[in-house]
Amino acid sequence: MTLLRKIWLFAVAYVLRAIDYVTCFTSQYKRAIDATGVKVEHIRIPSRDEGRFIRAIRYTPVGVTGPLPVHLNWHASGWVLKRLGLDRHMCIKIAKDLQCVVLDCDYRKAPEHKFPAAHNDTEDAVLYAIANPSLYDAKRLTVGGSSAGGNMALSISAHLGPERVKGCFALYPAPHVCTISEIDDVFKSNDPNHHSGIIIPNHIMAFFLEVYTNSKEDTENPRLSPILYPQEKFPKHVLIACGSADSLFDTSRQMLDHLHQDVDDELRKTRSFLSIPQEAHEFNNFPEASASIEWRDEMEEAAKAMIRASWSS
Ligand SMILES: *[C@@H]1O[C@H](CO)[C@@H](O)[C@H](O)[C@H]1NC(C)=O
Repeated sequence: MTLLRKIWLFAVAYVLRAIDYVTCFTSQYKRAIDATGVKVEHIRIPSRDEGRFIRAIRYTPVGVTGPLPVHLNWHASGWVLKRLGLDRHMCIKIAKDLQCVVLDCDYRKAPEHKFPAAHNDTEDAVLYAIANPSLYDAKRLTVGGSSAGGNMALSISAHLGPERVKGCFALYPAPHVCTISEIDDVFKSNDPNHHSGIIIPNHIMAFFLEVYTNSKEDTENPRLSPILYPQEKFPKHVLIACGSADSLFDTSRQMLDHLHQDVDDELRKTRSFLSIPQEAHEFNNFPEASASIEWRDEMEEAAKAMIRASWSS
């Protein structure tokens, strides 16, 4: 890569981050939720690199004594945008209604940090939870995430396996990370009419993929493209949710088909797909219509039901 190209990619990343920061900040009220009954703390999780920590927001229901079940979450970012805290609504809902700990975990971003930096950080966060049995009940550990975070939730659940990760919630995930030339085949928008959210233009998608991946080999690595893991590596309980207008709808749906390959009727039920009519990417974070708020709530209920079911498996 030429130096000029590199400077250009960094410049684009900084501009996108600035726009995104303002968007997330000015729409905070759309994610407002009553946090009564939940203790919110900023914590630092040790990473595998000596002296480096991973920031996280820990949501703990008050008045219950541990060890509690734990759900780890990774926000949407395209592996570029710095948005820790964006998923506050969902995290509080899960912590409060399920009386479990939610760890909303940060991870390193590109272009500064390429694959597998972010994926390594998700592994370190899960291993931290497993290593602290006085705080977290590792027998009831689930993961979840949105978009790039959904990619990593699927990836880490297969990477660590169903013995350790009991359930996975992937919201409009990107399970198949492709090369730039394949983008138009993988990410297609089927439905231009939508209530909320954005339809990510494919040139922005190309930018995200270019800055996080190093090579074509990366895209063929199951850790980056979790759809390439054999289906038996995934937990029994998986929920994939995606809006029908989202350009990640087809790829999300293919992920579910993959999880259903050669499985019995029981797994067909516990690995499910929630199709959300006429919503686009991040409809839940930036709802513009009452229908989107209703679907956000319904989607959160479905995620909670999957997490609860996974605890008794
Ligand atoms: C990811 O973890 C592996 C194994 O510990 C290590 O070799 C590699 O350098 C790490 N990469 C990054 C970018 O953190």
